[in-house]
Amino acid sequence: MQAKAGRSSREPRIPVAYMDWKAEYSVENALIDKQHKALFDLVNEVAEKVKSGNLPEVKSVINRLATYTVEHFKDEEAIMIKAGYANLEDHEMIHAELLEKVQELQHKLANNQAVSLVAVIRFLSDWLKEHILKDDMAYKAAIKKIS
Ligand SMILES: [Fe+2]
Repeated sequence: MQAKAGRSSREPRIPVAYMDWKAEYSVENALIDKQHKALFDLVNEVAEKVKSGNLPEVKSVINRLATYTVEHFKDEEAIMIKAGYANLEDHEMIHAELLEKVQELQHKLANNQAVSLVAVIRFLSDWLKEHILKDDMAYKAAIKKIS
């Protein structure tokens, strides 16, 4: 599904692998785990809305996802600050880059520019899983003392 009318014939119709939470994603902090699970649910919801083909609903869930991501990053960064996490700046930069991409996506959708929503879902699900497994796991030990 593309944001603009018409679908590229190269794009599969039902492309989406759903995000399943696994124990390996746990950073052993109740708040962060809860928020990560909620982000998984939101990405799944985006995928469902893309499958149903309802663009206004797709936009609405992406807006909710963007808002929630801002809140989550704020909470996660506050915990890293409290724990005195050494790689805070790098982690904040990674968060800022993702937010920039999501805001660019919101802008494109708001202006009815062509967007491959299949690629967006892949990007979001890959980003979230990889970010948790690599970047978030890196602070797991550091935040343990304040969890
Ligand atoms: Fe993070």
